[in-house]
Amino acid sequence: MSVKSTIEHLARTVEDLGIPGLRVDQDTLSFDEPVALACIDCDRLESIQGDLERLVHRVSPGGMIFFADYNSLDSRRAFLDAWVVAHPEFRVLEAGESLVVQRRAREATQDHAALWADPASVQGRWTERAQLAADMVSPGSSVLDIGAGGMAVRRLLHPACRYTPSDFVQRSEDCIVADLNAGQFPPGRWDVVTMLGVLEYIQEPAAVLTRIGAAAPRLVMSYCCRKGASIAYRRKLTWVNDFTPDELDVLLRQTGWRMERAVELKRLPTFTEVLLSCTRDGASETA
Ligand SMILES: C[S@@+](CC[C@H](N)C(=O)[O-])C[C@H]1O[C@@H](n2cnc3c(N)ncnc32)[C@H](O)[C@@H]1O
Repeated sequence: MSVKSTIEHLARTVEDLGIPGLRVDQDTLSFDEPVALACIDCDRLESIQGDLERLVHRVSPGGMIFFADYNSLDSRRAFLDAWVVAHPEFRVLEAGESLVVQRRAREATQDHAALWADPASVQGRWTERAQLAADMVSPGSSVLDIGAGGMAVRRLLHPACRYTPSDFVQRSEDCIVADLNAGQFPPGRWDVVTMLGVLEYIQEPAAVLTRIGAAAPRLVMSYCCRKGASIAYRRKLTWVNDFTPDELDVLLRQTGWRMERAVELKRLPTFTEVLLSCTRDGASETA
């Protein structure tokens, strides 16, 4: 059963049982109780923005807001996408015909780490992407693999390469633990940094790309570029940024990178995934 139908079912049950709820039709929202579930009719969404902000503070951890008809009007979807970006304390559970968001428990960052800590979340995945990335690295290079996950790159690099994994989860004995969202970065210098399937989770991508430039003259990275899909859809995948291909190009240039090669890995209605080989401005493409 989808979140939407569960909530509709719950709302009907509450009504059938005669449990008092609060219905608000005008700009009159005023109450002090915690809210476990709010269903918002989106017809007048833009005009109830002020009320919505008051409601948001009352939603308890784990509580949900259900926005009906999220996807039926471009302007409404744009309004709610902006709302989602402005409220990282809510995670998106569903972003289809309706939008369903849930207030995170306080230890959201730990949740994120716990999700990735499960070896099943990374083992044996994205091997094809890792192979293409490894093929972009010259034999003999020293390689720092950021957000190394299952470390497929280690197995696929030319044997003459020297590989160092880094991740915010201790993936192996030689893994340098560094949380990029906490401003941490592995000390040292390498010929190449690989960063596959990671930038989507980075809260300050420009700072991280600049930091990589201080550590290596070459970068091989992948990114799932925003396409038709809404931002709420991306948040559901726990991606925290939303660059289009053109915006990614600008970001790389602004952080001192020149894109030498781009390979399209996936073209879906929701996003396009690209693998990029980049050289730091002023460095030659040899490694
Ligand atoms: C989609 S997986 C990709 C794994 C690997 N690069 C691959 O392509 O197989 C994302 C990886 O980024 C790591 N990661 C997520 N957030 C991070 C952060 N803030 N700092 C460092 N690593 C992070 C996760 O632990 C996970 O290993």
